[in-house]
Amino acid sequence: MPHLLHIDSSPRSDRSHTRRLTAEFVQRWQNCHSGGTVAYRDIGKNPLPHVTEEWIAAAFTSPSKRSKAMQAALQLSDDLVDELLRADVIVAGIPFYNFGMPSGFKAYVDQIVRVGRTFLFDPKNEESPYTPLLQGKRMIAVVSRGDGGYGPGGRNEKHNHLDPHLRTVFRFIGINDLEIVAAENDEYGGSELLTTIEIARKRLRELATEEPPGKHGVLASSSKKTSCFA
Ligand SMILES: Cc1cc2nc3c(=O)[nH]c(=O)nc-3n(C[C@H](O)[C@H](O)[C@H](O)COP(=O)(O)O)c2cc1C
Repeated sequence: MPHLLHIDSSPRSDRSHTRRLTAEFVQRWQNCHSGGTVAYRDIGKNPLPHVTEEWIAAAFTSPSKRSKAMQAALQLSDDLVDELLRADVIVAGIPFYNFGMPSGFKAYVDQIVRVGRTFLFDPKNEESPYTPLLQGKRMIAVVSRGDGGYGPGGRNEKHNHLDPHLRTVFRFIGINDLEIVAAENDEYGGSELLTTIEIARKRLRELATEEPPGKHGVLASSSKKTSCFA
């Protein structure tokens, strides 16, 4: 059965657009994938620690040589990597902060990009020293921005450092199937905001019906796709 990892990273509660949109996605995904399971991690309300000197030393020591203290320093990171590896689909709510990802989500990225666990590094392989270790996963990043025009061709496109960062870092560990669904104009409100939310909502509805990658497809017929909206 397919497994979904649901991550929220907005510090806001009811006022968060990303939280509302990821919650709607998860509800529809569950309707469409009976028997599918969901894990939830709220790093907006329960922030993750930044990496420390101990963490870095432990991560770059081979597992067989790690002391008990080193193992302890990596425990949370190992749990987060295990949680990610279990998922077929990842939906992550990510607010757009200062032209990039919020520090809370960056802390998550730093915990899960792990040599030996999510990528391999071979300094002798000059042409291609890095090998991603994840396969067959789909990720949907649900973004909300205060201003508008950050999409392709928009007036703020050149200031959008979040989308390229997400694509680079998740491709680096093997998540090539990444779709970014964005709402915009939170700072303007009104119809300018609502229009973008409706577009994001419509795309997320479509994505929630799709078969997860890999062996878990459960949506055998188009009639099931229609009825799972009910
Ligand atoms: C610290 C901070 C920095 C922000 N920086 C930007 C920014 O650079 N560009 C932008 O368009 N909106 C920016 N915003 C607005 C947020 O992107 C917007 O409120 C978004 O809806 C937040 O996601 P949420 O609704 O899930 O909390 C910023 C908001 C905060 C709190």
